[in-house]
Amino acid sequence: VETLPKEQGWSVSNLYLYQGFWCTALTLRPLISFQTHFQEFDSDVITATFPKCGTTWLKALTFSTLYRDRFANPLLTSTPHQLVRFLEQDVYVNNPCPDLDNICVYNKPRLFSTHVPYASLPTSIEDSRCKIVYLCRNPMDMFVSLWHFAEMLRDENKVLPTPSLDEAFDKSCRGIHAFGPFFDHVLGYWKATQENPDKILFLKYEDLKEDISSQLKQLAMFLGVPFTEDEEEGGVVEEIAKVCSFENLKELEVNKKGVDVIGIPHKDFFRKGKVGDWNNYLTPSMVERLEKLIQQKLENSGKYGGLLR
Ligand code: A3P
Repeated sequence: VETLPKEQGWSVSNLYLYQGFWCTALTLRPLISFQTHFQEFDSDVITATFPKCGTTWLKALTFSTLYRDRFANPLLTSTPHQLVRFLEQDVYVNNPCPDLDNICVYNKPRLFSTHVPYASLPTSIEDSRCKIVYLCRNPMDMFVSLWHFAEMLRDENKVLPTPSLDEAFDKSCRGIHAFGPFFDHVLGYWKATQENPDKILFLKYEDLKEDISSQLKQLAMFLGVPFTEDEEEGGVVEEIAKVCSFENLKELEVNKKGVDVIGIPHKDFFRKGKVGDWNNYLTPSMVERLEKLIQQKLENSGKYGGLLR
């Protein structure tokens, strides 16, 4: 760690530049174990996100869709993060070679989650037939969400520094946040899905908000477990959408108390759950700077029709 380029982070204390992205000191060791030891099955499913882009929601949706015929609704008693565990900041944290089968709620398929950029996933994942579901979100909402998340963590852990919104925004635009730069993260998965659409499904938070039923059907189809006519007529799709909704999850006791493996309170994963909250926080000059950045970084990928909404 000492030899890696370092930056004072704004959402977490220090960040280290590893394989072209910013990583916390705590994540680095488990991440390397994940890269070195992970042994995938072709049937594995991995949800992948940049932090604050809807990871919690994606975990709940994927778990509920994939295992819908097997359970009575574990989301009532376990958080989405307990049901679908992060490979790099949970599964490999205390053990370089954990028993992956036992870590998952169900085997075949096993379901994991990651924030690691596509290029830094273990190469065997790319070579295997396991599937990845990526969820992207507008960077303005991602930033505002991350800003509040960092504030909540600072409230609970006073040792973290408190940069101003301007300072945090500047660092964010320069890609300095855990697992950043954001645009490299998104583009990595976007390019991979263009090359291999059967392997990687690229979803957008805003699309899920707009039409959750059709997005769930797309997810189920991609996972190889399409909803049957009976299920559709019986309201299964709507039921999954309802159980996984922000309003429902936020109010469940299990999501209101306790902390996750790295000490983050479960409640901090639920704030507003809305599209466009950035309007309440970003100044016109911030919006202009980010708009330019979006254009510059994503010019070949189509800002609205394609990669972002
Ligand atoms: P906001 O801060 O904008 O409210 P992550 O899960 O990647 O940490 O992302 C957290 C963001 O997703 C937060 O956004 C949170 O409120 C929102 N979120 C959590 N659960 C959600 C759900 N079921 N539906 C929609 N948004 C959700």
